[in-house]
Amino acid sequence: MTHELQPLFDNNQNWSVSNQQSDPDFFRRLLKQQAPRYLWIGCSDSRVPANQIIGLDPGEVFVHRNVANLVVHTDLNALSVIQYAVEVLQVEHILVVGHYGCGGVTAALRNKQLGLVDNWLRHVQDVRERYAALLDALPDEAARINALCELNVRDQVQNVSRSSVLRDAWARRQRVAVHGWCYRLTDGLVTDLHVSLHNQHEAQALQEDDNPRFFGV
Ligand code: CO
Repeated sequence: MTHELQPLFDNNQNWSVSNQQSDPDFFRRLLKQQAPRYLWIGCSDSRVPANQIIGLDPGEVFVHRNVANLVVHTDLNALSVIQYAVEVLQVEHILVVGHYGCGGVTAALRNKQLGLVDNWLRHVQDVRERYAALLDALPDEAARINALCELNVRDQVQNVSRSSVLRDAWARRQRVAVHGWCYRLTDGLVTDLHVSLHNQHEAQALQEDDNPRFFGV
């Protein structure tokens, strides 16, 4: 076996031991069940780790990550995660978490060619085109990137709310909300984008609101 990966095995051993030392029941408890109250939908970016950012242990947050934290209407992967989280795990909150300075969003804004992933990022370009007037009014590219990060989260929150999973959940009055956040790499803080949806009525209102506010721009 290659020695390059040995540090990872060492880390794993240390992690396992220190967890059991500080909490002897840790793994036994997790084995019995996972009962997370939250689903995190975030970017694959290595600097945006779900559990650490919101201070949760294993077992406390169900996680789905992809490039630029997208929820595409026909993405069976994301939809399966959402369905399992809402219907089986019964999470109460779905957190769609983008991050300022997202490489995927930046590439989409700049029409940068990166290969196959361009097709995936086309969805972010759809967001950019929808809000072109708003973005063009901003003073510089840095502001446009951060604004598009927020607008992208806003649209993905809407995409979650328009899935059959959320529509069905709300129709049977299940308590589950969708929220939009944006994480800042420079200080590790999360900004609430105030697009929380608790029911179909609020989802409809957000859908009809074509005047989004910016928070971290
Ligand atoms: Co990113």
